[in-house]
Amino acid sequence: MPSHRSLLVAAVSGFAVSLLMTPATAAIDPAKLPPAAKTPGVTFAKDIKPLFEKSCFKCHGAEKQKGKLRLDTLEATLKGGENAPNVVAGDSAKSTLVAAIARVGDEDDFMPPKDKGEPFTKEQVGLVRAWIDQGAK
Ligand code: HEC
Repeated sequence: MPSHRSLLVAAVSGFAVSLLMTPATAAIDPAKLPPAAKTPGVTFAKDIKPLFEKSCFKCHGAEKQKGKLRLDTLEATLKGGENAPNVVAGDSAKSTLVAAIARVGDEDDFMPPKDKGEPFTKEQVGLVRAWIDQGAK
């Protein structure tokens, strides 16, 4: 029969472990994200890069890499920034980049940041989701 003290230690450490094991992405509530577009064959070069070029390159391009993130090539986008990965190929709902452009979760993470550019439309977020769900090619 364990003492009360060891039970308490077990309970507290179990709680700490469950906190540690909660992935950072748990904050994304998929129900709050706009649905993925039905468009087939979405690619970075054809569909996504032009969106990023307009809204993201000035802070995540050749000149500046805020958050250590570059979004001007597919390779760099998949590599991610300080809190990589930001794109989980095949799972847009787990991709922090999607939460950022959908403006879901922590306001500090919204992209482009508040007052730093037009927010993405639901259709644009949907296209980025489709691109990631289709394997982020
Ligand atoms: C005006 C500058 C600016 C623009 C424009 C901008 N960002 Fe950011 N972005 C930042 C800053 C600053 C950070 C780092 C935030 C931090 O460290 O708290 C960041 C961080 C990020 C991150 C997290 C990187 C990591 O691993 O920590 C993602 C993802 C991201 N941006 C995506 C985008 C996307 C997609 C766009 C375009 C829709 C965009 N950003 C436009 C300034 C910008």
